[in-house]
Amino acid sequence: MAATLPPPAHVAIIMDGNGRWAQQHLRPRAFGHKAGRLAVDRVVTACAQRGVKTLSLYAFSTENWRRPPHEVKVLMELIEAALREEAAKMQRNDIRLRVLGDRLPLSGSLRDAIDAAETLTAACSRMDVVLAINYSGQWALIETARRLAQAAAAREIVPTTLDEQTFAAYRPMPDLPPVDLLIRSSGEMRLSNFHLWELAYAELWFTDVLWPDFGEAQLDAAFAAYHHRDRRFGALSHS
Ligand code: FPP
Repeated sequence: MAATLPPPAHVAIIMDGNGRWAQQHLRPRAFGHKAGRLAVDRVVTACAQRGVKTLSLYAFSTENWRRPPHEVKVLMELIEAALREEAAKMQRNDIRLRVLGDRLPLSGSLRDAIDAAETLTAACSRMDVVLAINYSGQWALIETARRLAQAAAAREIVPTTLDEQTFAAYRPMPDLPPVDLLIRSSGEMRLSNFHLWELAYAELWFTDVLWPDFGEAQLDAAFAAYHHRDRRFGALSHS
C-alpha cells in the first residue's frame, strides 16, 4: 500500500500559479502570493509528517527580478515575514531552515531574517527545508565552477582528476542531496532553472492545480505516482 512505502527523501517543488489563481479570484497578484504562502505552510507540515528528509522550495529565482518592482517587493516582504513568523514553529517541529542562493543583492533586513531563522533551527534534524531565494541552477553551476577554478589555481585540486564527487563538494550547498521527486504546479512542464545538478535522476510530477490550491491531496497523489515509477538510474530494471 502506497501509504506504508517510504516517501521520496528529497522533494523539490516549483510553486507556480499564484498569479493565475489571483486572476481567477479577480484579485491582484499579491493576493495569490499571500495564498501561496499558506500553501507553503501546509506542504511543509505534510512533508514532515510523511517523513520527507529534504524539501526544496523555489521561492524566488534569479529571473524573478524581471517582474515589476512592486511584485518583487511583495514577494521579498512575504518571504521575510514567513521567515520571521515561522522560524520558531519550525524549531518546535525540529525542522531546519536553510537558504540557498546569492544573498548579496537581498535587503539587509531579509538577510538578517535568514540568518536568524537559520541560527534558530540549526540543530533541528527531522527535516530540512531548503528555501531557494535569488537562486537558479545555472547560478549554482557557475558558482561551483568558480570555486573549482580557484581551488585548481591554489593547487588544492587537480583538474584532470575532477569527478562527480569533487564537483558536488564545491557546490554552494555541498551536502544538498539529489532530488528524488520534482513537483510543479499550474500545468507548466518546465524546470525553469531549478536544481539542475541535483535533478539528474529525479522523477518529475506535474499537476494542473495552481499553487495556492495545492495541499495534502496533491502531495499524496505525487507520492503515489512516485512509488509506481521504476527508477533505474541508467541501469536495468530490477523487476
Ligand atoms: C509563481 O507564481 C510563484 C512565485 C514566483 C513565487 C513563489 C512564492 C510564494 C509561494 C510566496 C511565499 C513564499 C514563501 C517561501 C513564504 P506566478 O506568480 O509565476 O504565477 P503565474 O504563473 O500564475 O503568474
